This record gives sequence, structure tokens and C-alpha cells, in this order.
Amino acid sequence: MLTKDPSVDRTAGLPAEQTYYIIDFDSTFTKVEALDVLGEISLIGRPDRDDVLAQIQAITDRGMSGEISFTESLELRLKLLHAHRDHLPALVETLMGKISDSFQRNAPFLTEHAEHIYIVSNGFREFIVPIVTSLGVRAEHVFANTFVFGETGEIIGFDPENPLSANGGKSQVIRQLNLDGEVYVIGDGYTDYEIKASGLANRFYAFTENVMRPRVVEKADHIAPSLDEFLYHNHLSRSQSYPKSRIKVLLLENVHPVAVQLFEEEGFNVEIHKGALDEDELIEAIRDVSILGIRSKTMVTRRVLEHANKLMTVGAFCIGTNQIDLDACTEKGIAVFNAPYSNTRSVVELAIGEIIMLIRGIVPKSNAMHQGVWDKSAKNSFEVRGKKLGLVGYGNIGTQLSVVAEALGMEVYFYDAVDKLALGNARKCKSLDELLAIADIISLHTDGRKENKNLISYREFALMKTGVIFLNLSRGHIVDIPALVDAIERGKVVGAGLDVFPQEPKTNNEEFVNALRGLPNVILSPHVGGSTEEAQANIGSFVPGKLLEYINNGSTYGSVNFPELQLPLLKGAHRLLHIHANVPGILAKMNTIFAKYHINIHGQYLKTNEQIGYVITDVAKEYADDVVQELKGIDNTIKFRLLY
Ligand SMILES: NC(=O)c1ccc[n+]([C@@H]2O[C@H](COP(=O)([O-])OP(=O)(O)OC[C@H]3O[C@@H](n4cnc5c(N)ncnc54)[C@H](O)[C@@H]3O)[C@@H](O)[C@H]2O)c1
Repeated sequence: MLTKDPSVDRTAGLPAEQTYYIIDFDSTFTKVEALDVLGEISLIGRPDRDDVLAQIQAITDRGMSGEISFTESLELRLKLLHAHRDHLPALVETLMGKISDSFQRNAPFLTEHAEHIYIVSNGFREFIVPIVTSLGVRAEHVFANTFVFGETGEIIGFDPENPLSANGGKSQVIRQLNLDGEVYVIGDGYTDYEIKASGLANRFYAFTENVMRPRVVEKADHIAPSLDEFLYHNHLSRSQSYPKSRIKVLLLENVHPVAVQLFEEEGFNVEIHKGALDEDELIEAIRDVSILGIRSKTMVTRRVLEHANKLMTVGAFCIGTNQIDLDACTEKGIAVFNAPYSNTRSVVELAIGEIIMLIRGIVPKSNAMHQGVWDKSAKNSFEVRGKKLGLVGYGNIGTQLSVVAEALGMEVYFYDAVDKLALGNARKCKSLDELLAIADIISLHTDGRKENKNLISYREFALMKTGVIFLNLSRGHIVDIPALVDAIERGKVVGAGLDVFPQEPKTNNEEFVNALRGLPNVILSPHVGGSTEEAQANIGSFVPGKLLEYINNGSTYGSVNFPELQLPLLKGAHRLLHIHANVPGILAKMNTIFAKYHINIHGQYLKTNEQIGYVITDVAKEYADDVVQELKGIDNTIKFRLLY
């Protein structure tokens, strides 16, 4: 039994019983052109195989464009193929593995509507019948050409009496079928459109899952990037609650190409823009967008969100989310994700590199050499092995740096505001002061919360050992710059690496103004700790991963504004996702509805934050359409979604 689709209005459109579906075979039912595949098999071992295959394809194209008649193109191709009856089992086996994805996943539609489904193709019954009957289509509903075999089994031609061997053949077959009802044609070729053009079909759907022919698409009543789209358009049961091709993804600010690829592979409709959009442009662009991907420059304001009625989720392809009005997103039931840890390793590597450069005094030596000075000496130059590294903040970066530094033979000490488990042989300090007094090298890795402003100032520098190396690759305001300058000038700090600053230039054209400029053995870098190609690629795949889990499964793990739920994969059930304002009693109301309709609940998950509640209910597939309407009608519902 096919599952009912409770999200559709069944009064719209004709009942399925009065509709006939005419489906093309090559490049529609299967992903490929069967005669091309037959050539690949029959020409094996021939030195001119590639040339002949190219000729066959050229003839196919000439036939399609009307340059030669279809009959002529068939004759020419069969001649070149040198195919034999013995090649057919291998052809069928190959084609079995090339059935279009959306046909495979919607096999129940083909079985349940077998009485009304016809395959009408200019291909050959010998290979079409075994393929389509495997998904429930009736052999007697297949209309196609038949091969003529020679005495020893070689394919020498086709039955010329068969209308499908000539132009206009499809229309002739359908006329003879004399179908009493609506006729819908699904195909990728011009000959499929011609059925409608000759008045024998009510609608022509251009099927573009495998090939997109502009001349055909132009003539279509509707474009079907998958069979799901066709079924959705006709209010029929299907494998996907919502066809993926209908999900529009808008990616701004040159997000990494890997993200574009991941969304396209998923079957989504992806639009990309190199730059950011301003508020008005974004308002215009976002109307039919379900997934928005941005970096740091696009401002997702409340005004923008008011126009984003289809928006389900926003992905920030960066660390920060200040550019997004998170409260407004939450109120509208839009889940926001970012990529907090994709550049952890990059920061760690830069820290290690700087520690070694600083403790060897390489920067002043290099600068001197650029001035022609050769100063070979081991004075004040040390190994990192055996030195005490003090980490302030033992989060993602701090812990990873701890592990890498130990591998270099350093002794690691750390202090974190929260009690953290020590990795490897690292030693926990009870206070910041204790850590500052012990370490030869101090590296800051706390988060940027307001209270951390000037965490390291005159008092803290005074507590450090003389000759300490000091690094800040976390956030600029954590260090009191005049205090650091003072410590460097007095010889307390003999080397410093700074990647972040209280005031940073907003663009590359602005001057960097800071009292640290010109001080000896100080490495300054323009906030690039996390900026590597690898980190960008990590972000490019991490964020789509989160967005896809949310869209396909409902999981919100890692969301910055939604209650976090990691859900099991959906199997053999329908998943109802209900987002509502966090007021008491919603779950009870939902369960009253489930009880009223005797719905068998497979699993239920609830999580709330201050603003919203998120309830996921997995239910058995059969239920009345009214259930969904009642769930949507519960007061304070923000968004409702159905997955299967
Ligand atoms: N330079 C760059 O390009 C770059 C790139 C990525 C991250 N960062 C910055 O690096 C820092 C660390 O990143 P993360 O991913 O490890 O963050 P995280 O949140 O995983 O870890 C921060 C840790 O600091 C601790 N902490 C906060 N305040 C503290 C205090 N006053 N004393 C001691 N511990 C304190 C927290 O408890 C937490 O364990 C952040 O400030 C982040 O913004 C910089």
C-alpha cells in the first residue's frame, strides 16, 4: 500500500483512476541511451571502438535535431553497432543498474498505477521489457520497436512495420490506444512533446533528471527534475514529502565550491552570488529561498526575515553569527548553523610555528639579513623541547595545541575557567596566576566574552617569568595592549605573536594602527590564524552537513539558536516536526490529537529553549489527513514540517 500524502488537497486535480501516464524509456526511465550502451558492449575489443561510438552519438543527435529521419538514424546506428543477440543479457544487466534514481525510489507508484502506465519508446522491447517490468510496469503496456535478427543471431535491423520506427510513431501508437481520460506524458525528448502537440495528451512534463534539452524544456507544460516532482505536481503519493528540486538554496559571498556541489548532489536548486547582497537586494532574492548560506558580510536583519516566508535554515559559512538577527530567526522558526571549529587546526599550527620562530629570535635575524647583516650566534636561541607552555583557555584550540605541543616535547600547563579534563600529560593549574608564574611560553585561547576584556594587563604581566614568550591568537580585547608594550620594552616579554587586536582595520585598504608596530621580536599577523584553504574547505563541507541533517532528518545538533536535538535516522515512519513558541501545554495538545486519531507513535523527542519548543514525533505511515491540519492549528505553532 502506498502511504497517503496528508499534505495535499485531494480535491484538487483529477482522481488518479482517470489519468493515463505515458513514460519514455531512454534517458527518462533509465539514465542513459540504451543503444549507446549496446555499442559499448558490442564493440569491445575493436581498435576503432571510440570512433564508432562517437559516430553513433553523432547520428543520434542528427536524428534528434531532425537533420535525418528517425528511421534513417536507426538504420545507420544499427549498422555501426555490429550487435548480436548474445549482447542483450549484458545490456539488460547494465541498464538494470542505470534506472533513474527517482524511478527506483518511486517504484510503488509504478506498481499501484500499473493499469494506467504505458511505456512508449523508440527503443527496443528486447531490453525495455525486462527493465520496466522489474519495477511493476506491465509487459503488454510496453510499446517499442523490435529487432530483426540474422540467421546466426546478429542484429540486422528492425521491424519496419512498427510505427515507432518512424517519425510521429509515438502519436500513432497513443491514438490507437484510444485512452479514455486525461493523458500525461513524461519524457526528455522532442518526440514526447509531439504527442501533446498532436492533441493526444493533456500535459507534457519535460523530465530533466538525466538530460536537459532546452528545445524540449521550452515546450513543456511543466519541468520535472525528478519523478517526485511529477508526483508532487499531481498530488500523488511519492517517496519524498517535498521534491528536493523545489528546495531553493541561495549561496552568497563566494562560499566554497564544495558546498555548492553538496547541495547540487542532494538535488536542490542552487543559486550562487559572488558577493554579499544589501538589505533590499536580499529581501528581493530571499522570497522563495528555503536555505540561505552566507559569510560574514551579509546582514540577515529582521526586515529581511519578514520577507523570507519559505526560509527554513541559515548557514553561516564562518565562525561568527553577529551578522544574523538570531532572535528574529528563532521567532520565525528558522534554525541557524555555523562552523565553529573548522579552523581549529589552522590556528594551532600557526601558534606552534610562531612559538618556534619567537624562541629562536628568527624574525629580528631575518629582518637584519634583509639589511645585509650576518649575525650568526646561539645566544638567546632555544629549543621548544622541555619548555613549559601555559595555555589560558582549554577549549577546542587549547586542547588541540596541548596535544601537538606535547608531541614536540613541551610540558603543557593549562588554566580554564571551567573544570576541564587534561589531555595526555598536560597539567591543570588552579588559577590563572599559578599558570602565569610557571610558564616559559604563554598562549591565550579563551573565548571572546565581554568579561575577558583586558584579562591580561599590567598585574598579569608582572606575575610572568622574565623572558617569557607571549601569544594571543584568540580575541583582541583580551590583552591590554599598553601593558604588553610596557612588558616588551622592559624585557619581561622577549617575544610576542599577535594575530588579533582590539581595533582591526575593516578592509585591506585601511591602515593598521597599533603601538606594537616596530617592536623587536614581535610577529604581527592580520587575523589570519584560522584562514587557510583547508579551513575554508572544512567550513564548506561542515555547514552543508548541518543544514542537510536539519532539512532531511530534523536534527538541530550544533544550531546556535534552536534547542539541540540529534535524531535517529528516519526509517519506516513519518516524522512530524513541530516548532512552537515555548508556552506550557503544547506537547499535551499534540498528544491529545494523536490519541483522538489512534495514531501509533514510534518515537517522540522534545527540547525547548527560552523562546521556542521543538517536538519531533515519528508515527506509523497511515493516518488521516486531518491530523496534520489539527497539529498546524494548535495555538502558538510557528512552523510545521513533515518528513518521509
Ligand atoms: N585567530 C583566529 O583567526 C581565530 C580562529 C578561530 C578561533 N579564534 C579564537 O580562539 C579562541 C578559542 O577558540 P576555541 O574554538 O578554542 O573556543 P572554545 O569556546 O572551544 O574554548 C574557549 C575556552 O576558554 C575558556 N575560558 C573563557 N574565559 C576564560 C577565562 N577568563 N579564563 C580561562 N578560561 C576561559 C572557556 O571555558 C573555554 O573552555 C576564541 O576566542 C576564538 O574566537 C581565533
